[in-house]
Amino acid sequence: MNREFKSVLRYIGGKYKMAPWIVSHFVPHKTYIEPFGGSAAVMLYKGKSRYEVEIYNDIWGLVVNFFRVLQASPEELLRRLEVMPYSRELHKYMHLQLKMLSSAEIQDLCNNPSVEWAAGFFYLNYTSVGSDVYGGFSTSPDYRAAERYRNHVAELQKVSKRFGDVIIESLHESELFRVYDRPDTFFYVDPPYDILGKVSNTLYGGLEWTNDKHVRLADQLQSLRGKWALSYYDTPLIRRLYPESKFNWKFYNTKRWNRKDGHGTTKSPASEVLILNY
Ligand SMILES: C[S@@+](CC[C@H](N)C(=O)[O-])C[C@H]1O[C@@H](n2cnc3c(N)ncnc32)[C@H](O)[C@@H]1O
Repeated sequence: MNREFKSVLRYIGGKYKMAPWIVSHFVPHKTYIEPFGGSAAVMLYKGKSRYEVEIYNDIWGLVVNFFRVLQASPEELLRRLEVMPYSRELHKYMHLQLKMLSSAEIQDLCNNPSVEWAAGFFYLNYTSVGSDVYGGFSTSPDYRAAERYRNHVAELQKVSKRFGDVIIESLHESELFRVYDRPDTFFYVDPPYDILGKVSNTLYGGLEWTNDKHVRLADQLQSLRGKWALSYYDTPLIRRLYPESKFNWKFYNTKRWNRKDGHGTTKSPASEVLILNY
């Protein structure tokens, strides 16, 4: 399948590159759900059949707000972004504004959407090092960063249309499973990864996961009636929670960024896996 959309956001743990491989393992379903939606890279790749119900979910206020505004008020969002040039000064200003938002204010964006913050989040996403909105200004003499940013702004109208019929939720994953689990529901599950005990505070606004959350997710997934495909790195914890004798494991060899204070520095080999309950 040719890509219909560029990536809408740069996203730590985003599956833009891997989306074709991931989608090739999906099975027919009536309802499609991403409990950990992030940049919606897989949903945007997979296309939509006429009668399918699609649900995007995340609990990070900045990203949920972005998709809600993109869906409901794309013109207003574009008008704002068109007057936000790729500049160090503006980046610094937006960065300071973001640092002044408390976690409660960020959480509240899920219920009270803000066009200003949808634009601010998109802007910081493209102008920050390593796509970490809390990171420094991204610039280089060898890279046409401003042009890339403009191209992605120009794409938003099209993505907004594609998102038109998607139901946007901001529920904790356990509540989402409770409400939507049916035998003909398909979940593409892409939680924050098990990175062998290392936890970064800035990823997804501090929504990083510790072992107990991975264990709780495994318990929940194993009691679902629907089908699911789950992304992770191949780690000892994940092997223990989802034994290969019980689940269908698919492997994808890739490289991953070694992170230093939230910024990608070098890459090392890693095995991404897709674990299927079918
Ligand atoms: C690995 S990212 C998902 C990336 C996404 N598949 C993509 O391609 O962009 C994990 C997401 O889970 C969200 N998240 C963390 N804890 C959550 C929870 N308890 N319920 C729902 N979403 C959660 C984070 O905000 C983050 O956006």
